[in-house]
Amino acid sequence: MYLFGILGVGEVRMKIAVIGTGYVGLITALTLSKIGHKVITFDIDKKKIENLKKGIPPIYENGVEEVLKERNLKVTYTSSYKEAIINSEIIFICVGTPEGKDGSANLTYVYDVCDAIIKHIKEDKIVVLKSTVPIGTNDKIDEYINSKLKNIKVEVVSNPEFLAQGTAMYDSLNPSRIVIGTSSKTAEKKMLKLYEKFSSNTDIVVTDRRSAEMIKYASNAFLALKITYINEMANICEKLGVNIEDVAYGMGLDSRIGPKFLKAGIGFGGSCFQKDTKSLYSISKKLNIDSKLLKDIIDINKNQKIKLILKFKEDFKRNYKNKNIAILGLSFKPKTDDMREAPSIDNINTLLKYKSNISVYDPIANENARKIFGDKITYCTSIDEAIKDKDAVFIMTEWSEIVNYDLKKYEKLMKTPYVYDGRNCYSLKDIQKYNITYKSIGRK
Ligand code: UGA
Repeated sequence: MYLFGILGVGEVRMKIAVIGTGYVGLITALTLSKIGHKVITFDIDKKKIENLKKGIPPIYENGVEEVLKERNLKVTYTSSYKEAIINSEIIFICVGTPEGKDGSANLTYVYDVCDAIIKHIKEDKIVVLKSTVPIGTNDKIDEYINSKLKNIKVEVVSNPEFLAQGTAMYDSLNPSRIVIGTSSKTAEKKMLKLYEKFSSNTDIVVTDRRSAEMIKYASNAFLALKITYINEMANICEKLGVNIEDVAYGMGLDSRIGPKFLKAGIGFGGSCFQKDTKSLYSISKKLNIDSKLLKDIIDINKNQKIKLILKFKEDFKRNYKNKNIAILGLSFKPKTDDMREAPSIDNINTLLKYKSNISVYDPIANENARKIFGDKITYCTSIDEAIKDKDAVFIMTEWSEIVNYDLKKYEKLMKTPYVYDGRNCYSLKDIQKYNITYKSIGRK
């Protein structure tokens, strides 16, 4: 699975602090220690740190638990800012930049870390911002920190992260590219030394800080656009009686387009695409550009999320209220328990308005769903249990056990086998063998 082993004796070992143990922070810490550096990982949440010391990760992510158990990893955990800051030559800021009220990024946590650095720093250091931040933030942070320090110089470097949840550990150890934003030769040299292990098989882009920040936003907005585009095509295909899967396949063979991120569905979820596209839109507005394209991505995706409900209402006519419904898959994508911006939330909320009686099933996200919906819905431990005697089923996440589910059971266990598939889990050929009313995205 991984490209790199632990460094050999005598190779570069740098002292690193990683602030934040979310997806980006924890994975960065583990990756840097896996390539041989000595990493001290900080989180303000003492419980998370205690658990990490016992090998319990604060996030559900493939491969992380195994890496935490590796014996020769040079990684320690602390909830003391002072300990992390004074014992490192490079400090990575990996805290969240959630969506603010007006769509712009909220930088409170980033500045909290800057304040801690200002308080505890004793000598020159490099501060690397991995959190996704609006263009110009690295410059502002540089100014903010250095204006408060005397006889100490901090070089602020932008180093955005491109990992995706579900494959985060793999992505981080096999990066598509490494982007380093700095105009300081000293910082550039140190960052190249830090990532030396990757240099033979990874493109390293060195640019100025603002361009590095923009690479991250532009990449995420483009991926969101690509999904939105294929979803729009799917909606057109549906009306034309054309199959979007075949169209996407045919398009993807063109190397200029590529096959990835052309999977039509009920819209993108997750903590990044919506937040970053909104933030970039908010930036464009401040620049008097008011990018209609970026706004449309967000609006179209919002509508896409409840596409299946329209089909359901069409099928059940005036009789769509008070139905017994099953929701299969709750997380925003498979292999994660993360429900941020997941289409399942919009669908459950709408169905609750219709006074539906809802049973849900997800292999790992039930607990997170409980935090959102409490006892308004019923949590099941199997697909069989969730769909039993139901009037309709909605598929929200393409978990492999849902994709591989025995189709006969929809016919056998449901009261009326109406299956609304938001992730095109089944082939139309297979479905036709059963007496199931099946509606998916962009297919007849
Ligand atoms: C995304 C990017 O893919 C990462 O490169 C980036 O680093 C990350 O955001 C971030 O900024 O932190 P992630 O949100 O974890 O990663 O997950 P994706 O695999 O990109 O999926 C996002 C959503 O798009 C999911 O709901 C997924 O179901 C949907 N999607 C994806 C589609 O509907 N169709 C596709 O073809 C691909």
